[in-house]
Amino acid sequence: MTAAPHTHPQAQRFAAFDLLATLVAVVRTDGVVLFANAALEDALGTSRRMIEGAPLSDCFTEPLIMQGALEGAGSNEFAALRYDAWLKRPGEPLPVHVVVAQSDQPGQAIVELLPLEQQAKQDREERLMERAQANKELIRNLAHEIKNPLGGIRGAAQLLQMEIESRELTEYTQVIIREADRLQSLVDRLLAPHRRPHQVGDVNIHEVCERVRSLILAEFPKGLKLSRDYDTSIPEFRGDSEQLIQAVLNIAHNAAQALVDRMAAGDAQITLRTRIARQVTFGKQRYRLALELHVIDNGPGVPEPIKDRIFYPLVSGRDGGSGLGLTLAQNFVQQHHGLIECDSAPGRTDFKILIPLP
Ligand SMILES: Nc1ncnc2c1ncn2[C@@H]1O[C@H](COP(=O)(O)OP(=O)(O)O)[C@@H](O)[C@H]1O
Ligand SMILES: [Mg+2]
Repeated sequence: MTAAPHTHPQAQRFAAFDLLATLVAVVRTDGVVLFANAALEDALGTSRRMIEGAPLSDCFTEPLIMQGALEGAGSNEFAALRYDAWLKRPGEPLPVHVVVAQSDQPGQAIVELLPLEQQAKQDREERLMERAQANKELIRNLAHEIKNPLGGIRGAAQLLQMEIESRELTEYTQVIIREADRLQSLVDRLLAPHRRPHQVGDVNIHEVCERVRSLILAEFPKGLKLSRDYDTSIPEFRGDSEQLIQAVLNIAHNAAQALVDRMAAGDAQITLRTRIARQVTFGKQRYRLALELHVIDNGPGVPEPIKDRIFYPLVSGRDGGSGLGLTLAQNFVQQHHGLIECDSAPGRTDFKILIPLP
C-alpha cells in the first residue's frame, strides 16, 4: 500500500517514522491522531487519511483504556505507560503491546504499538541470527585448529609406511591416512563457505529451483514426485546463484532422504513453491518485498528431540549424517540478508527461505 501524502504541517517532522517496522502514531492528548506511520496504516488496513484527525481510541476494541492513557500523559501523570490491547482491523483484531510516551511537544504523545506475535517472532529470529554468527566463528576457528596438525599427521604416517616392511603394520598406517583424509574433507567443507568469495550476479530463483530439481531427480529417480509451483513474476535479484543452489539442494536433499520409505511406497512428494511476500519483517528489518521459497515434503517430519537445533552444526538425526547441511544452507541464505525457517509435523515439513527483493 502506498502512503498517502501528508497534509499536516508537521508531517515533515514525523517522516522518519515511516521507516520503522513498529506501528507509531503521534496523538494530541485529547486523543486526535496527528500522524500515523506507514506500518500502522498497513496494520489497520486503511489509509492514514482515515486515521489522522480521528480519535486513536477508535482503533481499539477497548477505547476507554487508550483515552485514559492519553489523559494521563497530558496531565503529566507518567512519562511512559505500557499495556496490552487489541487493535481493530479487517478480519481478526491484532494483539499489540501499547507504549504511550510523552512527546517533546506539550499536548502531544507518541503511541507505539508492537504486535505481540511479531515481537515474539522477532526475538526468536534475532536469537537465531546471533547464534548462527557465533556458530560460524566457532566452526571456522575449530576447523583451522584441526586442519593445521592434520597435514603433519598424514605426512608422518606416509613416511612411517615407507619404513615398515610388515603388511600387517601398514594396515595401521593406512587407517591413519584414510581417516586423516576423511577429516580433511570434513574440515574443507566446514571452511568452504568462508573461503570462496561471494560471486555476485543476477539470480533467477527459478533457474536455481530447476537445477536443484534435476539434481535431486537424478539421485532419487524412483517413487519421488517433485512438483513445482512457481510465481513467475518474481524479479531477478543480486546474489550468488551457486550458494543458493547449494542451500536449496541441502534442504531438498534432506527432504528426499526423509522420504525414502515413501519412495518405496511410491507416494513421496516434494514441492518447490515460490511466492512474493509484501511488507515482511525479519532479522530486525522491514522489507517491502521478499522472496519466499518453500521446500515442502510429505515425510515423517523433523525428529522431535533435535527440532530446535537442526540449524546448529553437527546436529544430525541420521546415521552417518554430518549435521552440516542446514548450517551451511543458513549461512548461504544469510549472506543474502535472508533467513531459513522450518515448520514441521508428521506428513508435512515446510522449509521456507526468505530473501529480501529490491
Ligand atoms: N525435510 C526433513 N524431514 C525430516 N527431517 C529433516 C528434514 N530436514 C532436516 N531434517 C533433520 O535435520 C537433520 C539435520 O540436517 P542437516 O543439517 O542437513 O544434516 P544431515 O543431513 O547431515 O543430518 C537431519 O539429520 C534430519 O534429522
Ligand atoms: Mg543434510
